[in-house]
Amino acid sequence: MSFKDKVVYQIYPKSFQDSDGDGWGDIRGVIQRLDYLHELGINYIWFNPMTVSPQRDNGYDVQDYRTFDPRYGTMEDFEELSREAAKRGIGLMFDMVFNHTSTEHEWFQKALAGDEKYKKYYILRKGKGPGVPPNNWQSKFGGSAWEYVEAWDAWYLHLYDVTQADLDWTNPEVRRECADIVNYWRSHGVHGFRFDVINLISKRSFEDDPNNYDGRQFYTDGPMEHVYLKELNQASFGQDEDHLTVGEMSSTTLENCVQYAGEDSNELDMVFSFHHLKVDYKNQMKWELQDADFMAMKKLFTKWQIGMQEAHAWNALFWNCHDQPRSVSRFGNDDRYRRESAKMLATALHMMRGIPYVYMGEEIGMPNAYFTDISQYRDVESTNIYKILLDEGKSKEEVLHILQERSRDNARTPMQWTSGKNAGFTQGTPWITMASRYEEVNVEKERAAKDSIFAHYQKLIEMRKTMPLVQDGLYVPVLEEHESVFAYKRVLGDEELLVLNNFYETPADVTIDAKGYTVLLSNYADTAVQDAMTLRPYESVVLYRRNA
Ligand code: GLC
Repeated sequence: MSFKDKVVYQIYPKSFQDSDGDGWGDIRGVIQRLDYLHELGINYIWFNPMTVSPQRDNGYDVQDYRTFDPRYGTMEDFEELSREAAKRGIGLMFDMVFNHTSTEHEWFQKALAGDEKYKKYYILRKGKGPGVPPNNWQSKFGGSAWEYVEAWDAWYLHLYDVTQADLDWTNPEVRRECADIVNYWRSHGVHGFRFDVINLISKRSFEDDPNNYDGRQFYTDGPMEHVYLKELNQASFGQDEDHLTVGEMSSTTLENCVQYAGEDSNELDMVFSFHHLKVDYKNQMKWELQDADFMAMKKLFTKWQIGMQEAHAWNALFWNCHDQPRSVSRFGNDDRYRRESAKMLATALHMMRGIPYVYMGEEIGMPNAYFTDISQYRDVESTNIYKILLDEGKSKEEVLHILQERSRDNARTPMQWTSGKNAGFTQGTPWITMASRYEEVNVEKERAAKDSIFAHYQKLIEMRKTMPLVQDGLYVPVLEEHESVFAYKRVLGDEELLVLNNFYETPADVTIDAKGYTVLLSNYADTAVQDAMTLRPYESVVLYRRNA
């Protein structure tokens, strides 16, 4: 199947639409909103995990891979969703969390009870001494990555929360179980899969991190990664003509990604990499703020666009997901230029080579949640880091400010449908506080606005679906040295696009060879094409020409 004309929409199910008043989004709620998604024009919906989980990490701590948490609904609800989505030409993509399970998972529970078979499903090691873990690795959510279990007199590895125990992929049984889970969902009509932190499954070794950090060099893109992915592909989704797969690749490299998502590598269809979203991390540290390094971001886009294109590999394009603060607040201006900057970011991304992902609410320019009290946060990473940063001596105000900028909960508040009670998300009490500006920013208001962000997304999606130039055109960087404009061309045969994006509020001058160009899309009504152009605040324009 060619997937080059597709656009994926990500739903964080807990926060999309509640249909029964329990304050949680659910499958029936999604069914109610399918027409909305159909109007937007997307082809696939990726759902974050909806199966049984203690919800320590909102479903990424899987207790049961095959049963829906009843708060989301039942298999019958899902089947109805699947039928209704198919009627609208929408496919479904499920999230497979295979690096770890919840410690409440039956496998872990059996292991705890002493079952030798299941002990081998996890990564257990002896400590260096009494009370001393096997190595100094830190969990990605803070604290040691190891937890001691007295019954085993051994420690288990958890790269994430202490309730998320890493699976041992060197064990063929584990690999078979994972393929079986994919096959289970295939047998229920799911042919799209997103694989959670899938480049962490092959651990290289278990030595101390010399930098006293999280140990990532010992478990990222490990030696057996490509072998495991090929095996999983063959044993499951690779048997489907029409599969669509994406791997979430943590701190990965281009060299590995060209293989993960290479046309002929029989691993995955595309990858999420995160380098372009770390440009506002000071010294690579997520919890240290700095303004986005725009030049670094441009360089990263160019590197990945060209690197992947030369190797015939495919990128997933995204600004937002459930783990990232909202892009309009982060790289745009969510106040005075909310519409302009939201559209600019959309254009800059959607016209690149790859498959765009739209995260719920992005299409109406939802800003960060801007919580003001720690009690409003639900995310385990945020609540952990809050304590850690306070312990390090930062003031409460400082830490709350950092969370307002960086917390994953910024993206996890309920979808804003209306200006009414709880933004039309639920009749009950939402599981998490609503974001502060829902009365002003919501689907109802946005769609009623002249030149809405929603309509802009509709156009971009339509262009992806209908224009081979957008799907297949060669990516060519231009104006590489420009300090406020991100620009590139797409070229296919005699057709050409020139995409110019001013990432700042300050007007930006650019010089182009304007001959033959017409404006295909702009976020300002009256963009005129000429050799010397001054792009207004966050102005973004797509120019088209056919070369003689
Ligand atoms: C991925 C998920 C994130 C989760 C983590 C552990 O990064 O996107 O939400 O916390 O993996 O499963």
